[in-house]
Amino acid sequence: MIITHISDMHVQPASELLFGKIDTNGALEKAVDHLNAMQPPADVVLVTGDIVNDGTAAEYEEAARQLRRMNAPVFPIPGNHDSRAGLRQAFPQLGFLQDGPFIQYAVEDHPVRIVALDTVVEGAPHGALCGERLRWLETTLADAPDRPTVVMMHHPPVETGIDHMDEMRCLEGAEALGEIIERNPQVERILCGHLHRPIHLRWRGTVVSTLPGTAHQVSFELRPGAAGSWRYDPPAVQVHLWRDGVGLISHLDFPGNHGPAQPFGHD
Ligand code: CO
Ligand code: CO
Repeated sequence: MIITHISDMHVQPASELLFGKIDTNGALEKAVDHLNAMQPPADVVLVTGDIVNDGTAAEYEEAARQLRRMNAPVFPIPGNHDSRAGLRQAFPQLGFLQDGPFIQYAVEDHPVRIVALDTVVEGAPHGALCGERLRWLETTLADAPDRPTVVMMHHPPVETGIDHMDEMRCLEGAEALGEIIERNPQVERILCGHLHRPIHLRWRGTVVSTLPGTAHQVSFELRPGAAGSWRYDPPAVQVHLWRDGVGLISHLDFPGNHGPAQPFGHD
């Protein structure tokens, strides 16, 4: 099974640039082309939030136009820049997005089970997992304790070492989430967005990771108290390869034209 994964596209209305300068729409187009050309093809595409920047219908129209071009089925969750209503409206064909106060669902059709969690507090930058969301997770994980599982959510449940991101108090309810995860060793990974950078760490018996955005990145800045900023570090996608008896092998890959592959040799 091949799970491809993109995040934090921050799409704008057609022909508009983010902050007047970042071509987030063009970057998403490149990421879609890149994943569609991948061989062997992906089984699913995970999209871990901040799909658009301001939650408007014009942005979702553009995001849906691009994501509809994906060859593999797309599984989106909202981030702090999204609107649940906007996301639902943009993807009316995705029935699993439509019901309930939160956008949470499980994908059962593949060797790796995918459990999507909604961490959004609409109108706020930080995330939260309330009792209702955590109870749903606990019950859903209990349905299949022996199947390898990936949990996807926008806000990472951990400190990242980048002060201004951690000051958003990334995720309320992270401690309660950790207790559930500890009871469910089938959770191979918690895949998050939000950070616009790749990190990986062991947490409560699983591995938490984030990935770069498809367009702009949060600056790599470990000095305490440093102000937030963004930069044009290379956009990337993640490709998680499931091998029975091995596990989930996560690759970072870079959309765009980097020249033809060259054979190894001495010349
Ligand atoms: Co973002
Ligand atoms: Co975010």
